[in-house]
Amino acid sequence: MSRPPIQRPDLGGPFPEHLAIVMDGNGRWAKRRGLPRVKGHSAGVDSVRTITTACARMGVQSLTLYAFSVENWQRPSAEVQTLMRLLRVFLWRERRTLMDNGVRLRCIGRLHDLPPRALRTLRETEELTSANDGMLLRLALSYGSRSELADALASAARDVRAGTLDPEAIDEETLRAYLYDPETPDPDLVIRTGGELRLSNFLLWQASYSELFVTDLCWPDFREPQLLEALQAFSSRRRRYGSLLPDETDDAPAAERGVS
Ligand code: FPP
Repeated sequence: MSRPPIQRPDLGGPFPEHLAIVMDGNGRWAKRRGLPRVKGHSAGVDSVRTITTACARMGVQSLTLYAFSVENWQRPSAEVQTLMRLLRVFLWRERRTLMDNGVRLRCIGRLHDLPPRALRTLRETEELTSANDGMLLRLALSYGSRSELADALASAARDVRAGTLDPEAIDEETLRAYLYDPETPDPDLVIRTGGELRLSNFLLWQASYSELFVTDLCWPDFREPQLLEALQAFSSRRRRYGSLLPDETDDAPAAERGVS
C-alpha cells in the first residue's frame, strides 16, 4: 500500500521538525467522569494513535512522547501493569498503521527496567519499522532526564578510564554523544497537556531552547484540532537562542524595529 501524501498545514510561519509531548491528565480525565484512573490511560492511547498518525501525515520529522517516567514506577502496581499492557497492545495493534504511514519506532530510557514481554514487543516493533523512511516516533519509557545524564556521565567516565576520552576535550557535543539518542535533533516544540507548568524531568538537556505550549486540556481530549492550535502558536514564535534577530538590533532600520 502506498503512503498517504504528506500534507503540511499552511501556518504562515515555521513548522516544528521535532515535536515532544508530555501526555498529562489521563487520571484527572477519568476521575471527572467517575471512572478509575486506568480508563484515562486507555482513552489516552486513542490520542497517541490520532496524534502519531496526524504528525506523520503532516510531515513532522520526529515525535517524542513521554509515555512512562522513571518516577512512574512508584505508582500502584496495578496502574503500572495496566500501562505496560497498554503499551504492548498499542505496539501490537498499531504495527499496520505505523507501517502504512512509514513511521520508524525508537525507544529512549532505561529500557532494561521494562517487563520482558513489553521489551520484546518494543524491540520487535523497532526492528520491523527500522527501514521506514517517514516520521521517527520516539517513546520515552522508564525515562528521566536526570537518569539520562547520570547514565551519560557513567559511560563517559568509563571511556576516560579506558583512555579513549580526554577529559580536557569534553565539550557540549561530547556530552550529547553519550545521551540515549544523540542523532535526533533537539525538539523545536514541547507540548504539555493537563495544565501543569513544568517539564517533569523530560528532555531537560534537549529542551534547553524548545518553545513550550501548555494546554489545560487533558491528554485524552488532545486531538488534531488541538495539535493544529499548538502548531499555529509555534509558527508565530520568534526564536532567538539568547541572541537577537536581525530586525531587533539597534542598527536595524527603524521601520523594522517597529519605530514610526
Ligand atoms: C500522565 O497522566 C500519563 C502517564 C503517566 C502515562 C501516559 C500513557 C498513555 C497516554 C497511554 C500509553 C502509552 C502509549 C505510548 C501506548 P497522569 O496519570 O499523571 O494524569 P493526572 O495528572 O491527571 O493524574
